[in-house]
Amino acid sequence: MIYEPQEDSYLLAGEVGKRARGRVLDMGTGSGIQALTAEKSKGVNSVTVVDMDTEVISFVSSMRFEVIESNLFENVLDKYDFIIFNPPYLPNEPRDPQPCLDGGLTGREILDKFLENCSMHLEENGEILFVQSSLTDIKKTEKKLEELGFEYEIVAEQKIPWEKLAVFSCRLKKK
Ligand SMILES: C[S@@+](CC[C@H](N)C(=O)[O-])C[C@H]1O[C@@H](n2cnc3c(N)ncnc32)[C@H](O)[C@@H]1O
Repeated sequence: MIYEPQEDSYLLAGEVGKRARGRVLDMGTGSGIQALTAEKSKGVNSVTVVDMDTEVISFVSSMRFEVIESNLFENVLDKYDFIIFNPPYLPNEPRDPQPCLDGGLTGREILDKFLENCSMHLEENGEILFVQSSLTDIKKTEKKLEELGFEYEIVAEQKIPWEKLAVFSCRLKKK
């Protein structure tokens, strides 16, 4: 299923438009909204999109991006200057799996796995931009980022009736 852009997509895209640069990777591209936004930014050299959903892969194949079908970074070999992710974050309903919404049993599984594997695909001084919902514990994400050696800031926030959305910008701490 192709995720129709919603508040989370637009909040993230607002920051992507201001910050994207260099070689960009759009993880979980869905409709391609983040990739299409990044492409318009002045300092962007190339955009690669990733998704695990075959319907999404055929949809974005007609766009001008490099397309990788992959479960997170499994089939991603390169490093990037700017990595974007609007992860699925609803606790799983195992009988009716929907990759565009399901974040595993706790709702955090996809985001946590993404963060754990991100640094291997990030150029020195590279930036990660992702969305986090208050439904899956923003404080836990801050703790996870510290454990993984990232410095971070929340660069955008939005309150909607049932949750708060935050956009995190992260970079690896200098050694
Ligand atoms: C909430 S949608 C976001 C779509 C789009 N980037 C946006 O901002 O509107 C999450 C996307 O992540 C993809 N996805 C979910 N789990 C994934 C995984 N393990 N690896 C790659 N993509 C995944 C889904 O198929 C879906 O397209």
